[in-house]
Amino acid sequence: MKIDINNIYDIENEYFLKTYKRNNLVISKAKNQFIWDITNKRYLDFTSGISVCNVGHCNDIVIEAVKKQLDNFMHISNLYYIPIQVKFARTIINKTKLLTGAKIFLSNSGAEANECAIKLARKWGFINHTNIDHRYEIICFKNSFHGRTMATMAATGQNKFHEYLIPLQEKFVFAEINNVESIYKVLNKRTIAIMLEPIQGEGGVVPFSKEFLYKVREICNENNLLLIFDEIQCAVGRTGKFYAFEYYGVVPDIITLAKALANGLPLGATIVTKKYSDAFTYGDHGSTFGGNPISCAAAITVLNILNNQFLENVCNISQYLHYKLCNLKKKYSIIKDIRGLGLMIGIELSIKNGHDIMRYCLEHGLLITCTHDNVIRLLPPLIITHEDVDFAITIMEDAFKWKTLKK
Ligand SMILES: Cc1ncc(COP(=O)(O)O)c(C=O)c1O
Repeated sequence: MKIDINNIYDIENEYFLKTYKRNNLVISKAKNQFIWDITNKRYLDFTSGISVCNVGHCNDIVIEAVKKQLDNFMHISNLYYIPIQVKFARTIINKTKLLTGAKIFLSNSGAEANECAIKLARKWGFINHTNIDHRYEIICFKNSFHGRTMATMAATGQNKFHEYLIPLQEKFVFAEINNVESIYKVLNKRTIAIMLEPIQGEGGVVPFSKEFLYKVREICNENNLLLIFDEIQCAVGRTGKFYAFEYYGVVPDIITLAKALANGLPLGATIVTKKYSDAFTYGDHGSTFGGNPISCAAAITVLNILNNQFLENVCNISQYLHYKLCNLKKKYSIIKDIRGLGLMIGIELSIKNGHDIMRYCLEHGLLITCTHDNVIRLLPPLIITHEDVDFAITIMEDAFKWKTLKK
């Protein structure tokens, strides 16, 4: 049965659970930093599939690697040894030297990568302490986002995600970003870990301060806690470094990754430093599709593309974009703040309805996202050019002008 494209909104509504409020755009193809709709209208993509297609849509080198692996095999199972998985693991661990002797678990998504980190921390807390002071509490942060499974929702510090899900998975408690006292308020003899996104993404692109992360590391060391960095949105070159933690100079015990790792194919990773890597034993954790060979082939290519010169270009182009955005801020009072690192940028507005700005840009050929109603979030592919930045700035400026006049 052929899908009637003109009726796709109604057909979607008939068959899907109501989880996604989709934008009015029906996609036909995508290449590098561009997406085309079914009328062949071209859009400049400043979303990258929410920080996923970092090296560009349908990147030629990634496609070649995927095709090669497709000719070999698509799936076998983690019952056997899979060379492409091992090659990926070795490549990424070599890129993660600061986590001494680290080991990896491969899954399919960000939520799963975080579930693995949470399970490992809880198990470590169990086996390394007597039953009397068995430790299991994890300190997370207000406004965070860690995923949509029951445990990762419970770890997410936003009440709107907790509605209707109570009782929540125990035991996650919440501190405030850049507020050391707030950590001491919830720290107790049951605490086993602190978990955070170095730059909160869904929470409105809010970076932690360097000083605060140093302090968090210190608290973890003093209290024998694991420090877990959820770098699912902010790693894989997004900030101009491969990992955001490299920018901060604070090394976690566990890093979780997904999104951009395989540039659009599902792959999650939980990287654990040597001290904690023996906590799991055979049978403690697993995933049928985890570390899919096609995804691993794509991911090896992504890691190769993200060399020093590529990352330097990300820093240069992001400086240009930040500079242009700061100029807009001087002109339009509805822009309250510009923040973020590299090509992970939040434009906080003094008005609600940032979604109107997003819709305006979409109509004029630019895709951006909006979070919390008042933060425009820019996550362009890392391959954008100066010309792309100029185009995006022109459209956004028109949108701010239009919104200012409408106010
Ligand atoms: C920081 C962070 N952690 C976890 C997740 C969950 O990832 P996934 O949707 O792949 O499960 C997301 C997704 O947006 C995220 O941004």
